[in-house]
Amino acid sequence: MGIRFPIISVLFLFLFSWTSFTTTEAYDALDPTGNITIKWDILSWTGDGYVARVSIFNFQQYRHIQAPGWQLGWSWYKKEVIWSMVGAQATEQGDCSKFKGNIPHCCKKTPTVVDLLPGTPYNQQISNCCRGGVISSWAQDPSTAVSSFQISVGQSGTTNTTVRAPRNVTLKAPGPGYTCGPAKVVPPTNFISDDKRRKTQAMLTWNMTCTYSQFLAQKTPTCCVSLSAFYNKTIVPCPTCSCGCQNGTCVDNPKIASVVSAVSGKNNLQPLLQCTQHMCPIRVHWHVKTNYKEYWRVKVTITNFNYNMNYSQWNLVVQHPNFDNITQLFSFNYKPLSPYAGINDTAMLWGIKFYNDFLSQAGPVGNVQSELLFRKDPSSFTFEKGWAFPRRIYFNGDNCVMPPPDSYPWLPNAASNLATSSLIILIINFFSVLILM
Ligand SMILES: *[C@@H]1O[C@H](CO)[C@@H](O)[C@H](O)[C@H]1NC(C)=O
Ligand SMILES: *[C@@H]1O[C@H](CO)[C@@H](O)[C@H](O)[C@H]1NC(C)=O
Ligand SMILES: *[C@@H]1O[C@H](CO)[C@@H](O)[C@H](O)[C@H]1NC(C)=O
Ligand SMILES: *[C@@H]1O[C@H](CO)[C@@H](O)[C@H](O)[C@H]1NC(C)=O
Ligand SMILES: *[C@@H]1O[C@H](CO)[C@@H](O)[C@H](O)[C@H]1NC(C)=O
Ligand SMILES: *[C@@H]1O[C@H](CO)[C@@H](O)[C@H](O)[C@H]1NC(C)=O
Ligand SMILES: *[C@@H]1O[C@H](CO)[C@@H](O)[C@H](O)[C@H]1NC(C)=O
Ligand SMILES: *[C@@H]1O[C@H](CO)[C@@H](O)[C@H](O)[C@H]1NC(C)=O
Ligand SMILES: *[C@@H]1O[C@H](CO)[C@@H](O)[C@H](O)[C@H]1NC(C)=O
Repeated sequence: MGIRFPIISVLFLFLFSWTSFTTTEAYDALDPTGNITIKWDILSWTGDGYVARVSIFNFQQYRHIQAPGWQLGWSWYKKEVIWSMVGAQATEQGDCSKFKGNIPHCCKKTPTVVDLLPGTPYNQQISNCCRGGVISSWAQDPSTAVSSFQISVGQSGTTNTTVRAPRNVTLKAPGPGYTCGPAKVVPPTNFISDDKRRKTQAMLTWNMTCTYSQFLAQKTPTCCVSLSAFYNKTIVPCPTCSCGCQNGTCVDNPKIASVVSAVSGKNNLQPLLQCTQHMCPIRVHWHVKTNYKEYWRVKVTITNFNYNMNYSQWNLVVQHPNFDNITQLFSFNYKPLSPYAGINDTAMLWGIKFYNDFLSQAGPVGNVQSELLFRKDPSSFTFEKGWAFPRRIYFNGDNCVMPPPDSYPWLPNAASNLATSSLIILIINFFSVLILM
């Protein structure tokens, strides 16, 4: 035990400092290259401008864009107008009063574009459009991790030296969180014909890269973790006010909730929370359920406390050292995330299509669950010191608030650890003060 203590406390310190940093920076240690790349391929020049195909690639492993979908905005460099669009539309036309006859689709200096809805007539579609702005994460489904539209631009210049890329690009998903860099001229995209016998090339290609920061997206966390184990009756709840109590709007009565939710519209960005002590829209519960000779079993339950949100294509990222020996996983999909070679302790879990990939709004059916079976590695396995609990959990890419390590359910007769745990807390407090400074 004397040897293990420094290792454990170093681990907690690492976790603690790590979480403090990630909430303020775009860099994500679990997905170091995660980004959304927006590519403009100019396909042809026209009398007064060009036709481009714009594609939004979600290269993030586990962060998706769910309903009501993305909103792309930018600022034109010159007096450009949008003559027409296929597969998307500008939300406002703006002032086109200067035009006679042919009226542009949008004359705004800073247009905002949204995807069309599913069910758009085929003659108004292009491939990868019309999913209501929903984009999967790369790990979950690369085939729907891209969204495209076609745009015909006028008054823009008609050669690769006179056109100017859009500036100040903004991506809302649909809330804030993404920061987009300037457009860069990159080697033109090659297109291969369906029969693969001919290759064509864009006139000019611009790339822009957008990165996500939870700090920009929302100052308060959106989920929390609670813990329990077969060996201890205590259920360790989410920390009180994990997701902030200051705003204090919550409802106890689902009937009132359904009325309010109906009035405020579907998948409203403002959560309408069921009253809980943690005030989070999402709680993830990790229960250490069974101990076998060579295996151990965990039950994971995700509960939705938000009356205003159905989470479609939700996902969970979990870090636990035993994921390198996961043996079986029931009723969720699984993919190991190994951003660093050799470290295999992080997994992405998500629902099975048409079965539990839809986490319903708060209420009797607002939860999904799974069981995980791990093979014990005798060199590391232990129920002591909270080893069986996850180190880190993300829901839909947002870091969940964990209970403090000293509150984890103990093994019976582990009371002698008390001194150690309070020392750990002291050290953590000391370091968190340093970090905050
Ligand atoms: C964006 O993600 C792609 C795919 O992971 C990667 O190849 C590219 O380098 C990333 N771009 C940036 C600027 O990080
Ligand atoms: C523009 O086109 C010319 C020739 O057509 C080419 O040499 C040049 O590299 C192009 N510039 C860019 C920025 O693509
Ligand atoms: C674009 O952003 C820059 C700074 O980021 C700002 O100075 C400029 O006014 C913006 N341009 C437009 C047209 O919004
Ligand atoms: C531009 O974006 C495309 C698609 O996202 C990507 O395949 C390509 O590598 C990018 N080019 C550069 C130079 O980043
Ligand atoms: C909720 O909190 C945010 C940020 O903390 C604040 O801007 C807003 O005014 C608060 N709303 C209410 C109703 O208190
Ligand atoms: C959630 O989905 C259910 C079933 O499809 C629907 O009845 C309900 O209105 C949806 N709620 C929201 C907030 O979108
Ligand atoms: C560890 O990671 C590799 C590749 O990243 C994967 O093929 C393998 O299945 C993982 N092992 C386990 C037990 O998850
Ligand atoms: C657990 O996984 C590691 C790495 O994949 C492997 O070396 C080890 O033998 C596994 N242990 C058991 C008990 O399966
Ligand atoms: C269960 O764990 C809690 C800490 O969460 C501890 O206070 C309690 O003493 C433990 N119960 C037993 C029987 O060890």
